[in-house]
Amino acid sequence: MSTPASYRFSQPIVGMIWAQTNQGVIGADGGMPWHLPEDMAHFKRVTTGHPVVMGRRTWESFPEKFRPLPDRTNIVVTRQATWASTPEASGAVVLDSVEEALVEAQFSPGGNEVWVIGGGQVYAQAQEHCNVAVITVINTDVAGDTQAPTLGQEWSFRGATPAEGWHTAKNGTEYRITLWAKGDTEFEAPE
Ligand SMILES: NC(=O)c1ccc[n+]([C@@H]2O[C@H](COP(=O)([O-])OP(=O)(O)OC[C@H]3O[C@@H](n4cnc5c(N)ncnc54)[C@H](OP(=O)(O)O)[C@@H]3O)[C@@H](O)[C@H]2O)c1
Repeated sequence: MSTPASYRFSQPIVGMIWAQTNQGVIGADGGMPWHLPEDMAHFKRVTTGHPVVMGRRTWESFPEKFRPLPDRTNIVVTRQATWASTPEASGAVVLDSVEEALVEAQFSPGGNEVWVIGGGQVYAQAQEHCNVAVITVINTDVAGDTQAPTLGQEWSFRGATPAEGWHTAKNGTEYRITLWAKGDTEFEAPE
């Protein structure tokens, strides 16, 4: 089965999207300790056309030539009052709280779906405001220094692609894409 081309939801979505190891590692040394182009393509398919909210460290983890992420309002949170006027902030909408960022996102183009794209600090704070989580699980136990948030009991598993087992990427990495939602959030199954 191929990676879902899109997700269709019947209500406003504030989603989180990340990739993690079996143990929940999402980052190491300011980057991701794997190379998985198939997951980057999946991330692009899900988030393009919608605002993305991220922490300053995640923004800075993108090579300069790849930011801002195209066709998405890129909203970056920082507590540094002067960071917005530095060259590093070029192309970002800079705000000083996660809540403010999520509100700004909902009024940005495509804001009927908002995607929180990391990192660990921002997922942990945004989780309570989100209703969907799209999580790629990579079948590896590689170590790292940044963890995915633990989803609380209000979240339920809604399906995976493939339903059983793993996709195998061109480089041999095994992964599967899982979908979680909170409460009575409704959505159509991934295409
Ligand atoms: N695997 C994945 O899918 C994935 C996705 C995204 C990121 N990552 C990885 O995760 C790591 C980065 O995550 P991280 O947890 O270290 O950092 P992060 O969440 O990306 O950014 C943290 C920064 O955001 C700002 N911030 C956090 N909370 C804030 C608040 N309430 N109000 C205002 N600003 C706030 C602060 O910036 P200032 O310090 O400027 O104040 C803080 O240092 C990297 O290794 C990255 O590659 C992995």
